[in-house]
Amino acid sequence: MASINDLAIDLGTSNILIYMKGKGIILREPTVVAIDRDTREVLSFGEEARRTIGRTPSNILALRPLREGVISDYELVSFMLKGFVLKAVGKHMFARPRAILSLPTGVNEMERRSIITTMFDAGMRRTQLLDRTIAAAIGAGLPIDEAYGTMIVDISAGVSDVAVLSLGKVVVSDCSKVGGDKMDDAIIRHLRRKHNLLIGERTAEELKINIGSAIPRNEPLYMEVTGRNLITGLPKTMRITSDDVTEAIDEPLQQLIESIHGVLEHTPAELAADIFEYGILLTGGGADLFGLCEAIADALKVPCSVAEDPQTNVVMGCAKALENLADLGKFLDDNRRRLIGR
Ligand SMILES: Nc1ncnc2c1ncn2[C@@H]1O[C@H](COP(=O)(O)OP(=O)(O)O)[C@@H](O)[C@H]1O
Ligand SMILES: [Mg+2]
Repeated sequence: MASINDLAIDLGTSNILIYMKGKGIILREPTVVAIDRDTREVLSFGEEARRTIGRTPSNILALRPLREGVISDYELVSFMLKGFVLKAVGKHMFARPRAILSLPTGVNEMERRSIITTMFDAGMRRTQLLDRTIAAAIGAGLPIDEAYGTMIVDISAGVSDVAVLSLGKVVVSDCSKVGGDKMDDAIIRHLRRKHNLLIGERTAEELKINIGSAIPRNEPLYMEVTGRNLITGLPKTMRITSDDVTEAIDEPLQQLIESIHGVLEHTPAELAADIFEYGILLTGGGADLFGLCEAIADALKVPCSVAEDPQTNVVMGCAKALENLADLGKFLDDNRRRLIGR
């Protein structure tokens, strides 16, 4: 039986989104935990913990326990997930809700089962899992039940999931380790090498989001950043150009294109023909990188488009499944049967 406070959750490598039936998205926070380095006691999580990244006193450690798309510390993930669910449901907990949850694809079967237990402890009556790329496709409005091939690429912070779907199943897929984080790292390395300037992760991400581009811009953009001059050891402010960022992220970008290429190569010819006709759909936060579609389309000679509001596709796919269990319930998994296609 459906209750009014049922939840749809996208637990990502850098952000969690929680949707409540009838209310829409009610929580959107970074999946960051701040812990005491010595006692490993959790001090804060979410937005509050994110603000401490790079600014923490030496005894506080700000971590992203899902950073690489796998669970590095189950206890922390469990603590954080429970915390977010309770924060989101809070005063709305009238009856034990059901939940549909999408996890990073690298989370293994045993951890999936443990997470369902964590959700039960957080007050959920029943939790079912929805494959990430299927959730994104449903959320983006792709007709995934049809007998033709569609390709979806979810570019998150930790990983990028590339999947070809047909008749509601994942036919071919790859999970590449190149996501937004690898681009941020590449920007840090590039500025260190080229300008002897050491910047932090958050500054690198700001550069990528504000002026970054996968292809050279016609009108270059600039941004002033402050870092540490590695020669003098003192703070230094520099004007960085968008061309600098384009050059910096070229290597991770080529790796992402390589992963998409690999999946296309393994796609049955009929489905590949559909993809060459209908194109690739980009989703996830990284899909918003300026010029990414053009770079992919140009390299692979396949049409490409960005989903509308790409950061919410996964949670909205879970939400649609919640609202329409009759048609979409078949995609859900509650560990009574194996995950489809993987
Ligand atoms: N406009 C943008 N341009 C490039 N990258 C972006 C943009 N907006 C967000 N991102 C990147 O998207 C990633 C987060 O995407 P998201 O789907 O929320 O991740 P996850 O699903 O792993 O939690 C981060 O690496 C972030 O830097
Ligand atoms: Mg995402």
